[in-house]
Amino acid sequence: MSKKQLIQKTNEAFESHFKSQASHHFLSPGRINLIGEHIDYNHGFVLPAAINKYICFAVKAHHLPEIQLLAIDLNDYYSIDLNQPIQPIEKTWVNYILGMVHQMQEKGLKLNGLSIAFSSNIPMGAGLSSSAALECGFGFTLNKIHGSPFSRMEIALMGQKTEHDFVGVKCGIMDQVASILGQKKQFILLDCLSHHVSYAPIDWGENQLILLDSRVKHSHISSGYNDRRNEVTQGFQIIQSFYPEVKSFREISESQLLNIKQNMTDKQFQRCLFVIQEIARVHQAVMAIQESDIQILGACLSETHRGLSSLYEVSCPELDFLVFHALEFKEVLGARMMGGGFGGCMLAIVKKSATKTLIESLKSKFKRKFSIDLVSYPIKISEGTHLYEPQKAIQS
Ligand code: GLA
Repeated sequence: MSKKQLIQKTNEAFESHFKSQASHHFLSPGRINLIGEHIDYNHGFVLPAAINKYICFAVKAHHLPEIQLLAIDLNDYYSIDLNQPIQPIEKTWVNYILGMVHQMQEKGLKLNGLSIAFSSNIPMGAGLSSSAALECGFGFTLNKIHGSPFSRMEIALMGQKTEHDFVGVKCGIMDQVASILGQKKQFILLDCLSHHVSYAPIDWGENQLILLDSRVKHSHISSGYNDRRNEVTQGFQIIQSFYPEVKSFREISESQLLNIKQNMTDKQFQRCLFVIQEIARVHQAVMAIQESDIQILGACLSETHRGLSSLYEVSCPELDFLVFHALEFKEVLGARMMGGGFGGCMLAIVKKSATKTLIESLKSKFKRKFSIDLVSYPIKISEGTHLYEPQKAIQS
């Protein structure tokens, strides 16, 4: 579904349910991540970008002390009573929103009543961060309607806290930053310790990025995501007990880790080794981008996959299969699973001239092996969460 159709669908559903016209529309995008996986909560740097897949919010203020929510795609409705204490409930989609309401109230914002309808063209469970788009889009909407008391970074942090406290996923900050701070045609270099953000365009030359969805759905509420976070945190505590001067994974080398290997479980060692290597790989990737060396950038992506699959163990047979067969093509410069893992998408850098043949070949091999229809998403690097202004959209 195109962006235009999405806005139209959201608007029509708003009008038919609330029997009035929305005053504003907001768009909040999903994200891809070029490199820097599972290191946003491990003191690393990451290189994500917002993409042209969105959740659209249609909004109007009213005078009742409640936020009325119409989840169009889920065919569900919920009303938040603003005079009652806000707590998580048994419905996940509502918790993303309750968490944001809770934090804005905690920060002293007095919320007014609103009617909101929302709908999405971000595939769910595909590792494109539809949940961050929901938190950030809703947070941004509330913020704008109430005179913008919070910065974009503050809204991203509220999104992360919502995941931790209301949803139960101990995620890092990458997805929320990518969704709300994305810029057109720019990758974001995010320092996950200082939260410093800078932007970099990438000259792909004769190559392009492709995104293929394995359709293996996952949710980090029940995947091994929180387990990985625990394992690596325990590993880091052991590191610090031997090297008290080390304050982050940035400050320890592979050889230092090897020296204390016997004091860790195999799993703790593997997880920490991956983190140290991935932090170094992001630096290598950034240099490759600065030198427009897409060959080296591609090699970094493929190395990341090997680490995610064998050391961090967050891949799955379907994604390993896709990466393996993609790399058989000499026109593929690099390929890897993307996002939190346990399902979702493969990201690859491919010579434009070979893209069609590659996708066709992978589709048929994948179908034969897993009886699943692979889906390819054409992506554009896009603007982060924003107010939709039809006039501006026509001009751009
Ligand atoms: C999920 C999390 C992010 C990040 C990625 C892995 O998308 O929400 O914070 O940890 O996994 O890089």
